[in-house]
Amino acid sequence: MESEVGHIVTVASGKGGCSKTSLVTLLSGNLAAAGYRVAVIDADPNASYHQWHQLYEGPEINCFCEIRHEEIVDAAQGRAESYDVVLIDTAGFGNTTAAFAAGTADLVLIPIMPDRASAVEAMRTARQVQAFGKAGRREIPFRIVRSRWNPRGLVERAVGADLTEAGLPLIEQHLSDLSDFGKLSLTGKVPTSGKVGEQAMGIIKEMIGLGAVPAAPAKVAA
Ligand SMILES: Nc1ncnc2c1ncn2[C@@H]1O[C@H](COP(=O)(O)OP(=O)(O)OP(=O)(O)O)[C@@H](O)[C@H]1O
Ligand SMILES: [Mg+2]
Repeated sequence: MESEVGHIVTVASGKGGCSKTSLVTLLSGNLAAAGYRVAVIDADPNASYHQWHQLYEGPEINCFCEIRHEEIVDAAQGRAESYDVVLIDTAGFGNTTAAFAAGTADLVLIPIMPDRASAVEAMRTARQVQAFGKAGRREIPFRIVRSRWNPRGLVERAVGADLTEAGLPLIEQHLSDLSDFGKLSLTGKVPTSGKVGEQAMGIIKEMIGLGAVPAAPAKVAA
């Protein structure tokens, strides 16, 4: 993958409320704190990320709203020219805009919470991402991100077994049940240290390993 052009990471799932916006918030804040030039495209008509971004305090993150499916690819690829990382928050996978956002992504992250419906929906989303890649004659890399996750929990173990059986690739680093997430939506501060910061950086390191985030911030502000 070229380091000249920034990378596009789309967060999507057919399941509502599975941590998509929280993941985008956490990743955007931690990438910005690590010196990356970060753009977030809020492709959800509810504009939750955009609303939160108005409260955001921290190193610069540029937020753009684009919900039109015929514009999302140009919007993402255009931003990738001037940002290290373009994150796209979607309204789920049952809509065309999310499908196009996945179609242009270097990596699709599919968050999941510990319940079986969430696992079933993640599998369906993964199949849709695969089909969308096939339509464009390429493979779109995707990974499941486990959120609100207690690795020792009973449900988590059952859902984990479902995911393994389905052969779905995981980001190894999970996000714990973070009471801080509630605060995150009320304050403009993103935790970049402590347990939350460490977990976010763990995910970012894996994204670097997958070539979906440059190893170091490449673009210098003009
Ligand atoms: N790891 C976590 N621990 C605790 N709470 C979490 C975690 N991740 C998300 N939440 C909470 O779960 C709720 C749903 O999260 P979020 O809004 O990120 O999901 P979403 O997938 O973007 O939802 P939507 O489909 O409505 O866009 C929020 O109240 C959020 O604070
Ligand atoms: Mg959301």
